[in-house]
Amino acid sequence: LDSLIDHIVEKHHTYVRDRIPDIEPFLEKVVHVHGGRHPELLLVQEKFDEIKQELTDHMYKEENILFPQIKKLVSAIKNSSEYVIPPYGSIKNPIQMMEMEHESAGSGFKIIRENTHNLQPPSDACQTYRVVFALLDEFETDLHRHIHLENNILFPGAIAYESSIL
Ligand SMILES: [Fe+2]
Ligand SMILES: [Fe+2]
Repeated sequence: LDSLIDHIVEKHHTYVRDRIPDIEPFLEKVVHVHGGRHPELLLVQEKFDEIKQELTDHMYKEENILFPQIKKLVSAIKNSSEYVIPPYGSIKNPIQMMEMEHESAGSGFKIIRENTHNLQPPSDACQTYRVVFALLDEFETDLHRHIHLENNILFPGAIAYESSIL
């Protein structure tokens, strides 16, 4: 599980942090140029901004609270040493919160897709418009892989480790 955590942070958290500043100025430009004829672009910008704020806080919590705690759990098992229960109790508590935040990011993208014909650029779209939709599509695909690794592998693994020593 520790190497999975390192993989998630190095690959997916880095991707999110690198891509946000690529997408934002393109989105700003497209809203400015095409927002009049395509008001849904304003909604896309607003939703992406919400997703950005949420993911930034979310990854901070994973990197500073949950992931270090999972590493402590792994090391206690590996070294048969004492595991100190954190103030928030079971690891299931922060995990449940992280899963709720994953759902929220997922529903933000669902709204973006519903309002943009599934991120298909319209026939009058300029190059930037096409690029920004392709970037959003790629961003969401990466987010799904990222969330899959956490929800379906890392979190159940951590819960199983915890229940094996408590
Ligand atoms: Fe994450
Ligand atoms: Fe997460």
